[in-house]
Amino acid sequence: MHAICYILGKLNQYIQTMDINSHTIDNNLVPLHQEISESNSFIDVSKWLEDHALPYMSLMAYYKCAIMEVETKFKVLNENFSLGDDCNPIESIKTRLKSPKSIMEKMIRRGYPLTVESIEQNLFDIAGVRVICSFTSDIYKLADALLKQDDVFLLQKKDYIQNPKPNGYRSLHLIISTPIFLQSEKRMMKVEVQLRTIAMDAWASLEHKIRYKKSNDRLSGEDCRQLEICAGLCSQLDEKMEEINTRCGR
Ligand code: GTP
Ligand code: MG
Repeated sequence: MHAICYILGKLNQYIQTMDINSHTIDNNLVPLHQEISESNSFIDVSKWLEDHALPYMSLMAYYKCAIMEVETKFKVLNENFSLGDDCNPIESIKTRLKSPKSIMEKMIRRGYPLTVESIEQNLFDIAGVRVICSFTSDIYKLADALLKQDDVFLLQKKDYIQNPKPNGYRSLHLIISTPIFLQSEKRMMKVEVQLRTIAMDAWASLEHKIRYKKSNDRLSGEDCRQLEICAGLCSQLDEKMEEINTRCGR
């Protein structure tokens, strides 16, 4: 397990700097092969690379492409809405490719087979696009506009704004399937889209930081209650801002 994580970590470093041209992949694998051979002599590196590493690298490159496609879709919608009365419904967009360590941890935690096919079949959040919106109404407007597109298919929707999590977490989550167009094939890819307001994002970022710090030790009941109160304040802030904005004629 440790060896696989190490190798996937190394591969990920290469993925960050490469395009999906297979020639580039081959060239990059030469030093990688040497490095792995030196530090992991107990596994059959060549066979492992052939069986798993190349398909894994290709899959991650496809997810990177899917992230680019979906990010572009939102940038286009932002421009389009800005032409009308709505000025820039999007404040910012953050994207991330799930790390090899997180992928392996989740696969093991959920008891899925550790193969590349199984990663693609079972994990829906390898490609992540987080869209930070100005107002709550912008979230639904953007989600509707995205889902109306004829190459976007909704696989799952979780509305944590209408139904916040017990700890107060709010956001709209969509799992979509959308195509990427490669040299000689069209490939459908899954992408997790999270839409939030600035206030929802501020709460989620800080709550994550606080919880992460306490990872070995659970938050006290009082701290959980205080965080829930903060989530309520963020929700009130969103409601007030929406009200003011509507009054100001948007
Ligand atoms: P994961 O296995 O973590 O992906 O969760 P899930 O499959 O049950 O999906 P869910 O839609 O509930 O959450 C997915 C993502 O939403 C997480 O990875 C976080 O980015 C975010 N999220 C969900 N709940 C919380 C929360 O309570 N606090 C924070 N800060 N983020 C959350
Ligand atoms: Mg996740």
